[in-house]
Formats: sequence, structure tokens, C-alpha cells
Amino acid sequence: MFAAVIFYSIMFVYKKKENITKAIKSIREDGLTIGLVPTMGALHEGHLQLVIKALQDNDKAVVSVFVNPTQFDNSEDLEKYPRTLENDVDLLKTVNADDIIVYAPTVEDIYEGKAVSESFDFDGLEFEMEGKFRHGHFDGVGTIVKRFFEIVKPHKAYFGEKDFQQLQIIRKLVEKYELPVEVIGCKIHRETNGLAMSSRNTRLTPEHLNVAPFIYKTLKSAKVKFGTKSANKIAEWVENQFKKNNLLKLEYFLVADASTLKPVKRKSKNKKYRAFIAAYAGEVRLIDNIALN
Ligand code: PAF
Repeated sequence: MFAAVIFYSIMFVYKKKENITKAIKSIREDGLTIGLVPTMGALHEGHLQLVIKALQDNDKAVVSVFVNPTQFDNSEDLEKYPRTLENDVDLLKTVNADDIIVYAPTVEDIYEGKAVSESFDFDGLEFEMEGKFRHGHFDGVGTIVKRFFEIVKPHKAYFGEKDFQQLQIIRKLVEKYELPVEVIGCKIHRETNGLAMSSRNTRLTPEHLNVAPFIYKTLKSAKVKFGTKSANKIAEWVENQFKKNNLLKLEYFLVADASTLKPVKRKSKNKKYRAFIAAYAGEVRLIDNIALN
């Protein structure tokens, strides 16, 4: 049996909807603002930066820690996803123990015994890139994020640009459902060697950890080439680079319009573009992206 509210020295960790709902009600009655940072735990410096930003903008930060089963299309990936709640709480305490609340529900409590996704129409954003390779992923993300917005009632919610497609989809969710929350996109946090911080990095072997910065290095070269080369030529070049690398397997590379996420055919001066990569380092799937203009 788990306790409904766990008191880790001086930080509240809510496990049940009814308890966090009461806490949120009292925060709101006191006229305080709430910033939500949704996470799947295994927190790293990138997450902490989101929490710091949430605390700069709001009186309280709610950090949800929940490995959401409905956004995984691969049961092994779900099973192997790191779960490190006590460590996560200790890390959050180093930021601020008084104004952070952790919401770490169980699957049963948040899904009320029915862990299934709602079906969403994100105007086609859901069919690009990750949508082609992770079936049902964005329905799962939309379902859980909408639920968190309803329970936590945040004024603002913070998402990293590493999952840029997810960020655009959350913006679409808020627009379509007229949800009263402002979505804030935050810059990708990187290791000094350029590797985008991710909870999945903890699953990399030393060999794969060593080679993984190649992904960002390739994106940076793609950015330089974007000034003079077509999207097709850049894609060809990137694919060749990955063919020469025995340790990384490219799943996709794409130059896309940053707002529609549609592949670029012809560049237009007044549009924003980004390049996206998904690649396997052994069994671990990594994604990254870069603004091109
Ligand atoms: O980006 C993530 O960690 C997850 O997709 C999110 C937004 C917490 C939803 O489960």
C-alpha cells in the first residue's frame, strides 16, 4: 500500500488526485500563481531549468512525475523507462523546497482504472515525424497533458524544445480546447559536448554516450548548409554521414516548417525552419532538433 501524501522532509509529494486538488484550491484561494512542469521523472539539469523558469514566473511550481503508459507504443520501452522518484525529489529540493509541489500519481488514480487515450485532431501536426514512427504517441501525450491541466489548473506550463513537435501539439491542444493556460517553450539544455539532455541518456552504454554528440554536430552542420543548399541536398548529406557511423542508426532527418512541421519543399524568407533528427544509439532512441533561421 502507498501513502496518499508523502512528506519528504519538507517537500510535498501528492499521489492522489483528491489531495492535489485540495492543495491547488488553497493555493488559488490565496491568489497565488502556478507554473506546471510536466515530466516523466528521471530528472536532469534540463528539467531543473524548466522548474527554475516556472518559479521565476510564478509563486508555486507543480512538477508532475508520471511515466505515462498511453504514450508508449513499445512495452519494453515503457518497462525500461527509468523511475527514480526519491532521487527526483532530492534534486528538486536543491532548487527550492518550499515552493515546489510534486504530483506523482499512480496509473490507477489518474486514469481511473482505464488507461486509454482520447483521440485528438491536431490539424495534421500529429502525423509528421514522431507520428509516423510512434503510433498513437501524441494521443497519449494529449490525454495526459489535458488531464494535468484540468487537475493542476496552472497559469503557465513549461515544455522543452527538445520535443519540439510535442510543444507545437500542446500549443494546438490549448488553442483547440481553449484551455486557460499559457504554454512556454524553453531552449534545449545540452551537455558541454552538445548532447541534448534526456532521461534516456542514462540508458546509453559508455560507447553510445561517447558517440551520441554526433547527432547535434550533424544538426549544426545542416544549419550551416541551410544557407546555400536545398533541403533535399542537406538530407542526402546527413543520411551519408550516418551511413558512415556504425554506432548510430538514423531513423529520420527532416527540414520542416517550424509551425506546420511539414517538410520544406521551397524555402520562403518569412518562414521559420527547423531540422529534426531521430536516431538509435543501440536500443535507445534519441531525438534532437535545431532552429535553422
Ligand atoms: O515530455 C515528456 O516528458 C512527456 O511527454 C510529458 C509531456 C510529461 C507527458 O507525459
